[in-house]
Amino acid sequence: MLEILKTIWLLLPAYTPNNFAVIFGGGTPLDFGKYFIDGKRILGDGKTIRGFIAGVLGGILIAHLQLLIERSVGFELYSKLPYDQFIRLVFLLAFGAMVGDSLGSFIKRRFGVERGKCFPVLDQLTFLLVAYAFASFSPAFKVLFTTEIIVIGIVITPLLHLAVNVIAYILKLKEVPW
Ligand code: CTP
Ligand code: MG
Repeated sequence: MLEILKTIWLLLPAYTPNNFAVIFGGGTPLDFGKYFIDGKRILGDGKTIRGFIAGVLGGILIAHLQLLIERSVGFELYSKLPYDQFIRLVFLLAFGAMVGDSLGSFIKRRFGVERGKCFPVLDQLTFLLVAYAFASFSPAFKVLFTTEIIVIGIVITPLLHLAVNVIAYILKLKEVPW
């Protein structure tokens, strides 16, 4: 149980960027409205430059709030890292999450899935796998992300996604429970 909570905590800088993109996104699309060789949009209107930047900054902001919480509650995960290593790690997690989010859209468009339509598993895991891949370039990644944590993240992320959506549906924040 503790490992699951640790995993969720460590992944917050990768989980939260898309929420910031939803809130602050809009404007010029990342693909500038251009089409790929298959005649479909490269990424689509759901991926914007402002959303991407807000997402990365938002993930980094959340990580700083986590530092404050760790220090006041009295546990050490992100707060045991030297600040420069901390920044490198959480930047790569947040940036990787947004690159992965965009890659997910690129793949969806290639399969002919329209912007906003869901693509199970891909929608919930691409961002995480790219976040892991990017973050693995940070020395601090090896310190905090054990193999166990990495595997738990891959298993719980789609379940967490579903749980959050079902709760949002029950609270009538969403029209469908997925
Ligand atoms: N968003 C954004 N810029 C991003 C990512 C997201 O502006 N880089 C905003 C868009 O308004 C988008 C919303 O957040 O519609 C929801 O994000 P997401 O579900 O990732 O995009 P979809 O609209 O579902 O598009 P896609 O099918 O390409 O995933
Ligand atoms: Mg979507």
